[in-house]
Amino acid sequence: MHKVLRVENLSKASILHEVSFEVAAGEMLAVMGPSGSGKSTLLYHAAGMACPSGGRVWLGSTEITGLSEDEKAKLRLHRMGFVFQQMNMIANLNILDNILLPAVQANKGRHRKSRAELTDKAKRLMEQLSVSGLEARSISQVSGGQLQRACICRSMINAPEILFADEPTGALNRGAAEEVLEALGRLNREGTAILMVTHDSRVARGCDRILYLLDGRLCGELRLGKPAAGTEKWREEQVNKWLSRLGW
Ligand SMILES: Nc1ncnc2c1ncn2[C@@H]1O[C@H](COP(=O)(O)OP(=O)(O)O)[C@@H](O)[C@H]1O
Ligand SMILES: [Mg+2]
Repeated sequence: MHKVLRVENLSKASILHEVSFEVAAGEMLAVMGPSGSGKSTLLYHAAGMACPSGGRVWLGSTEITGLSEDEKAKLRLHRMGFVFQQMNMIANLNILDNILLPAVQANKGRHRKSRAELTDKAKRLMEQLSVSGLEARSISQVSGGQLQRACICRSMINAPEILFADEPTGALNRGAAEEVLEALGRLNREGTAILMVTHDSRVARGCDRILYLLDGRLCGELRLGKPAAGTEKWREEQVNKWLSRLGW
């Protein structure tokens, strides 16, 4: 199976200790663990947003560790998507322009697309994530769940190979969290690999595989496989049993 992301012995001073794992094409992988165990740090280092003190990371066949800051920024813009708990939308741009921003930034060089082409693409994503009609709203005129789904549109606009999500439902109420989760699940079924940090077993139960991070070390893995209809409850029980065995 083709590997989208490969992390080998990733270390960060006293926070991460020789963490190794892979994300396969089409996989949705969750990282769980107590607060302060290094989950966010792991995600940011795996995405080349910070420099590790040891280890190597590959996106497909490109080694990220060793690239310059400029090269990493370009890689992130073109080949990775990001969804955070704090949504990082720009306040004086409307929803559509926020979604378009990475597309505009990436749209350089000889084969530039027209604004209409980019807008079409954004609108298709908005439809897919059920936020059509909100194009002209400001970010304060939509609900938390709508805003997070708009953030997912923004993160998908350059068709990334992998989506990194840090507690994507952490700031949402239960209904909104389920909408966001459903949206992520759909993108994953359509082929986008996802690496997600979560502390919520309802979120993790939808993933193919879960890793457990404790004090910067990987110390558990649960393989659930792709979800089948009607197995949600059983999957959540598996996750909770596994977590309690790990002392969660
Ligand atoms: N910028 C930073 N400088 C120094 N220590 C940090 C920094 N960011 C996080 N840490 C520390 O690294 C550890 C892991 O943090 P973090 O990755 O945010 O954990 P988690 O996401 O699992 O809650 C914590 O002990 C935290 O205090
Ligand atoms: Mg965190």
